[in-house]
Amino acid sequence: MIIPGRKGPYSFGYFISLLLVIRPFSEPKPMSKKPVFKRYTVTSALPYANGPIHIGHLAGVYVPADIYVRFLRMNDEDVIFIGGSDEHGVPITIKALQQGVTPQDIVDRYHGIIKKSFEDFGISFDIYSRTSNKTHHETASAFFRKLYDAGQFIEKVSAQYYDEATGQFLADRYITGTCPHCGFERAYGDQCEKCGTSLNATDLIEPKSVLSGNQPVLRETRHWFLPLDQYESWLREWILEGHKDDWKINVYGQCKSWLDQGLQPRAVTRDLDWGVKVPVDGADGKVLYVWFDAPIGYISATRELTPEWEKYWKDPETKLVHFIGKDNIVFHCIIFPAMLKAEGTYILPENVPANEFLNLEGDKISTSRNWAVWLHEYLEAFPGKQDVLRYVLTSAAPETKDNDFTWKDFQTRNNSELVAILGNFVNRTIVLTHKYFEGKVPGAAAFNAGDLAAMEEMRQIPGRIAESIQNYRFREGLAEMMNLARLGNKYLTENEPWKLFTTDPVRVGTVLHISLQICAQLSIIAEPFLPFSIAKIRHTLNLPSFKWMDAANLNWLTEGHQLNAPELLFEKIEDPAIEAQVQKLHDTRAANEALQAKAPVKPGKEAVGFEDFSKMDIRAGTILEAEKVAKTDKLLKLKIDTGLDQRTVVSGIAKFFNPEDIIGRRVCILVNLAPRKLKGIESQGMILMAENPDGTLFFVTPGEGTIDGADVK
Ligand code: 2FM
Ligand code: ZN
Repeated sequence: MIIPGRKGPYSFGYFISLLLVIRPFSEPKPMSKKPVFKRYTVTSALPYANGPIHIGHLAGVYVPADIYVRFLRMNDEDVIFIGGSDEHGVPITIKALQQGVTPQDIVDRYHGIIKKSFEDFGISFDIYSRTSNKTHHETASAFFRKLYDAGQFIEKVSAQYYDEATGQFLADRYITGTCPHCGFERAYGDQCEKCGTSLNATDLIEPKSVLSGNQPVLRETRHWFLPLDQYESWLREWILEGHKDDWKINVYGQCKSWLDQGLQPRAVTRDLDWGVKVPVDGADGKVLYVWFDAPIGYISATRELTPEWEKYWKDPETKLVHFIGKDNIVFHCIIFPAMLKAEGTYILPENVPANEFLNLEGDKISTSRNWAVWLHEYLEAFPGKQDVLRYVLTSAAPETKDNDFTWKDFQTRNNSELVAILGNFVNRTIVLTHKYFEGKVPGAAAFNAGDLAAMEEMRQIPGRIAESIQNYRFREGLAEMMNLARLGNKYLTENEPWKLFTTDPVRVGTVLHISLQICAQLSIIAEPFLPFSIAKIRHTLNLPSFKWMDAANLNWLTEGHQLNAPELLFEKIEDPAIEAQVQKLHDTRAANEALQAKAPVKPGKEAVGFEDFSKMDIRAGTILEAEKVAKTDKLLKLKIDTGLDQRTVVSGIAKFFNPEDIIGRRVCILVNLAPRKLKGIESQGMILMAENPDGTLFFVTPGEGTIDGADVK
């Protein structure tokens, strides 16, 4: 309904209201600090193409990067947003090995899946490339070659782990062992995933080959090293002095700790056949280390994107920002910058806003344990609800510390925030406008103090959000956005237009006018965060997309502007949908536990002839005495009655058995093993133990009725 006489005689009140309308709507504050850079190169970590991506990836890297980039674009900045698949990691070759396919098969499969997930969730890359492509191989190869020709590498022959059973050198990820820093027993040869420490394979305690399960041996091989030690003082100055105030505390802290430990030359080539070939004579069978080639992937992708790629990488007026997870900090803050510095013509990252990790229901997200919410599965369960996940992951983003994603929290944030606050406000406003004004924006009459306060707040909000986004505080920015929707709800509730219409339709017009302006402002300031829903709001309001500088304008909707019908923005998520997800995780946990109990058992060994077997003299025996060996936590010194004699055996079972508990225990003992000294004690044989895949040990016990000395065969 149109209020009769709304545009009627120009009363005094009308002029007052006109003045008031003009004042607050005509003095927008400047929106954001004028950036000092001419353009932006924004990169996001290239995910390994050895599996689909999950909510941890999205929360830690891609959603924040996307918010940042969308915001920059709304500010008319010249920005490129680079993504791509990292297709050369050893995890890829391991996966290929496990599945009996080629690494190329693996990366082709997952590159497609990952790319689609990013598209589905509105991650607005300017290019999503891949490191197995030709441009990348050429770019990485030329980069290496330039450093090589300039004498920037140290060439070293060093001892590397070699698996004699499979006849190959072992890449870091093919070696597991105990972390010397935290004792985690499944650390990799390049990094401990528990404590995050970056390692050399030779640091690992009790290393094992992933391929054969055997202990690898050290063998000599030639490699090229980037002398990071030579960049240490420059890095100290650049990071510790130059970025003390603008890098996030977690990033700065990790860099400082690295630098304080002292940098060592780092090998940038590997003995492997999957990757970018080392472009040097005599380097057959060697490729660039994946962490040497992957960040160059950002440059290769830019080359693919535009012939003007150099200005995005070489012009000091370009701001380079790397979005990554915390496990990538050292590579992006120390190693890649050292590479860029060595090359000499590139700019350096201005900021590296790394996030911490997102956990899932209290447990670390793990691909191998399938403890994850995979994006493609999420969309099957919640079609069309991309923004809900973007919202929840931004609200719970692990910006300063690890954070936890729970399905309950997901439901609450959807139902109590997106539905009850944002959706409800926009919907009520549009529905009331249709009800009272035939979907046409009513004009505003005199503003009261409440109206003016609301408008004053509206003028402040865009600046605050801009400040948050520019400083990589996306949670804070999102909260500000929701505060505007809260303000809108409060405003509607306090003014109760639905009660006033019969008595004061003019006031209802003013209230809805302001409420609609709030909706319009939401459609601008929420765009970086919720691009899908904002497109719907914009359509309902029948508005074009605006620039960020328009966000404090407060006059997007003029009187008489026709709205479209309301669209459902968010809908309640009911308990059964959440319970199904929680159940799915319970099932995963149960399946993991079952798997853990059953398998994986070690692969079988090569066949041996009976002759070899019969050389072993194994007897039934009894443990007579047992005591701990001083200064070790693994060894027990045992005295065993073998039927032939009583002898001493040193056995690595102390972690599993107390000495006093095993006295009298029947055992099988290999009595003709050549004696050897352990911690100064001569061990004269070996007792047989059965070892479960999880490392737990059990005695192999001779059956009842056997006497000491009985032949085990
Ligand atoms: O941690 C990872 O998933 C790596 N693939 C990230 C690489 S980022 C960049 F250097 F390419
Ligand atoms: Zn560790």
